[in-house]
Amino acid sequence: MSTQPEISPEQTVVEEDLIERVLASFAQTQDPRLKTVMESLTRHLHAFIRDVRLTEDEWNAAIEFLTAVGHITDDRRQEFVLLSDVLGASMQTIAVNNEAYENATEATVFGPFFVEDAPEIPIGGDIAGGASGQPCWVEGTVTDTEGNPVPGARIEVWEADDDGFYDVQYTDGRVAGRAHLRSDDDGRYAFWGLTPTPYPIPHDGPVGQLLEKVGRSPVRAAHLHFMVTAPQLRTLVTHIFVTGDPQLEIGDSVFGVKDSLIKDFVEQPAGTPGPDGRDLGDQTWARARFDIVLAPENA
Ligand code: BEZ
Ligand code: FE
Repeated sequence: MSTQPEISPEQTVVEEDLIERVLASFAQTQDPRLKTVMESLTRHLHAFIRDVRLTEDEWNAAIEFLTAVGHITDDRRQEFVLLSDVLGASMQTIAVNNEAYENATEATVFGPFFVEDAPEIPIGGDIAGGASGQPCWVEGTVTDTEGNPVPGARIEVWEADDDGFYDVQYTDGRVAGRAHLRSDDDGRYAFWGLTPTPYPIPHDGPVGQLLEKVGRSPVRAAHLHFMVTAPQLRTLVTHIFVTGDPQLEIGDSVFGVKDSLIKDFVEQPAGTPGPDGRDLGDQTWARARFDIVLAPENA
């Protein structure tokens, strides 16, 4: 049974008339796309307010919340992106813009921790840069959807250390856990990284308070970020996740997990030399394979 109060016909006319007047206010918009977006936003926003019969206290609380989101946002902290992520709005935008194409690798959320101009490493190089964690050899190929190798693809990789922090979250200016490399003539790539571990998204601000109020965890499933670019092919922003990570069952705080992106990170016993002959001493390490398939640019 609905708990909604009955809305009188007179009140309905008042509310619908307002929507019509707001819609009409956009009639002169020159840019047709902007007009479409503003009209749709108006309809959905007013539908939401009417649906929940938003109180004035709730409206004030929402304004205060968004103000706090703005206040904590600066060059290093983007709370609006976090808000979009925890509401699933980032993943919905990715879904709308990256429709599945044949066997192309699926995209997922970008996150706030990518940095331009990360150092270049050769194939087989190490992205750790002193970040702590279990070493992990990651290898694969970059191909198009017909299986042709993509030589020279630019592969950006970044990840948190095993304390759950990206380099940019430290204040000492370190560059660690990130790099870029190029695929070789056969489309192959390989690098040393760190076996990903689960970590919380920044939750010491208003978005964290919201998660707490609704009983949600800020923790993300363990992952390693990739962005792959090559001429005439669709740029791929994605991650790989770790088979067996318990957080996959519990849930990823930003809804980024796709089954096709869950990969085996196979632990190697201490004493096993790396695929490149690296001597890891008495340290265990892991090995993962991620074959990347890029869709055509305009698919
Ligand atoms: C991340 O994966 O780094 C991330 C994604 C969304 C929000 C916060 C962090
Ligand atoms: Fe991340």
